[in-house]
Amino acid sequence: MKRSRIIGTGSYVPARVLTNHDLAKLIDTSDAWITERTGIKERRIAGPDETTSELALRAARLALGAAHVKPRDIDLVLVATATPDMFFPATACLVQDRLGVRPGPAFDISAACSGFIYGLSVADQYIKTGAARTVLLVGAELFSRIVDWTDRSTCVLFGDGAGAVVLRADSTKHGLLSVHLHADGSQWELLNVPSVGSQPLTALDQVRAAKTAPRPQTIRMKGNETFRVAVRTLEQAAREALEANQLDASDIALLIPHQANMRIIQATAKRLGLPMSRVFVNLDRYGNTSAASIPIALDEAVREHRLSEGELVLFEAFGGGLTWGSAVVRW
Ligand code: UT7
Repeated sequence: MKRSRIIGTGSYVPARVLTNHDLAKLIDTSDAWITERTGIKERRIAGPDETTSELALRAARLALGAAHVKPRDIDLVLVATATPDMFFPATACLVQDRLGVRPGPAFDISAACSGFIYGLSVADQYIKTGAARTVLLVGAELFSRIVDWTDRSTCVLFGDGAGAVVLRADSTKHGLLSVHLHADGSQWELLNVPSVGSQPLTALDQVRAAKTAPRPQTIRMKGNETFRVAVRTLEQAAREALEANQLDASDIALLIPHQANMRIIQATAKRLGLPMSRVFVNLDRYGNTSAASIPIALDEAVREHRLSEGELVLFEAFGGGLTWGSAVVRW
């Protein structure tokens, strides 16, 4: 049976570091509060000229290099993002163009922080059906552009960055063993960023509104409720993945969770009985980079030699939608 195997990873984060101490000079917060409640110490913030596609491109180039794959060998380009450069074209099209990938399919995936796991599922369907042999999947975000920098309950949480993987059809025992995806749109209000389609304006109203200041489109989150649902849902997602593969948590060499909050990560690990030594954490340095968080963490895990051939990796994510999911990979 054909499997989707991750044959290369790459990541890129902007150079500018914004620490908790920097933030405490801008808003009513403190390093102590942010560290204790979230585990975040600093995050990266893109420069004014950096775009989501630029971040994605840099991560993608590194992943292609690690995989020893040429752009002409890519059959499908996927970018998971909630902060695309444009409404259209898709950021994946911009990446495809700048990489010099031939004109096969290229499209974005909108599943907020679960975007990378949704992307794994899409890539896997293409590969298993033979529609693609080699897929480039990128998670890239510029959340610094959509946070409300006056809202201390959200702006301290997020950061910018991109991570990428190259997946290829493989007939060995290595690769993606399972992906499970879920969504519950009834809980959309917990975490969202309004866009143009939701604005109840007539065409005439829009002309009038255009003469006034534009409405900011920023993140709205019910943090407490989201936290509770996240812990419960992530445990379920991990158990679903383990059961589907007849695995026990002790079989997992490394859990790479979406990096939203240290307390969520610790609570999930505890519920699964996984020691933190087998959980990858980098949110102290990057904050929550939404769809980019898992591929950045995976790339760092690879570079730190945290994964050996044949070991099992569990990914899990949760985000706006609500969306959530899990995946198991034999490395
Ligand atoms: O990636 C998608 C998924 N996202 C998540 O999973 C995020 C889930 N939620 C969370 O991570 C947490 O709910 C937060 C980190 C957002 C908030 O932590 P919390 O422990 O739930 O704090 P809280 O919202 O209950 O706020 C506690 C207090 C409040 O003050 P009062 O009302 O008790 O006086 C807030 O005003 O902390 C205050 N507060 C802050 N204080 C200093 C909120 N934000 C800050 C801040 N600095 N940045």
